Amino acid sequence: MKGIILAGGSGTRLRPLTRVTSKQLLPIYNKPMIFYPLETLMRAGIKEILIIVAPDHAGDFLKLLGSGKEFGCKFTYEIQDKPEGLPQAFVIGENFIGKDNVTLILGDNLYEDDFTEAIRTFKSGGRVFAKKVKDPERFGVVEFDSNNHAISIEEKPEHPKSEFAVTGLYIYDNSVIQKTKALVPSSRGEYEITDLNNVYLKEGTLDVAFVSGKWLDTGTFESLHEAIVFARDRELASHN
Ligand code: TTP
Repeated sequence: MKGIILAGGSGTRLRPLTRVTSKQLLPIYNKPMIFYPLETLMRAGIKEILIIVAPDHAGDFLKLLGSGKEFGCKFTYEIQDKPEGLPQAFVIGENFIGKDNVTLILGDNLYEDDFTEAIRTFKSGGRVFAKKVKDPERFGVVEFDSNNHAISIEEKPEHPKSEFAVTGLYIYDNSVIQKTKALVPSSRGEYEITDLNNVYLKEGTLDVAFVSGKWLDTGTFESLHEAIVFARDRELASHN
């Protein structure tokens, strides 16, 4: 299993914090944001990790993270020229992925869960992780039938069919590269991960699991603040 951290994007909602630096380099209490998704991958046993960054900040990520040796990992870097959507990670990362399966995590997502088992038991298809949220209209929303089977995923729906959002960690088999190449941009002009997940769903190979611990997407001032408080509480509790 290979790992990808997608840490590009423009971070417009966090301006002016992101005017001269990348969102994923901002501090979450005592560490840069990207350390959290990195630790999630490492805790799950993934050692070969591709870090995808925006052109303006590539040097800063390299300086911060280096070869990966210090972390017991091997890091590779790629640049995403324009933030044209999450699935681009699989085209940019095609050579890196090779013939393996891949776990993608968003560089601004913070998880408490340990994904070791989810990755160890993954065989083929896709596996995504849903979480009940108060504002599902901001995310990809999963609709379930009466047997709790996922039947649809809608991107940022005006009228969400459930409160379950698809969160920012995705496990896919190698067919993700070909599936991504067949996607067309949405009306927003971006390639959508929801479209990719729907390809797996239609094929009958998408497993929708659940996040049990805390999950935060730190892209807004409110969620950034919440993440800092959470990280501080966890850090202090670990010393007691
Ligand atoms: P978003 O929060 O959707 O986008 P953003 O980071 O550009 O922020 P804003 O909406 O405020 O302008 O992105 C989620 C994560 O994915 C974040 O870590 C950035 C990353 N990302 C990329 O690396 N490339 C992309 O093309 C997109 C859309 C996101």
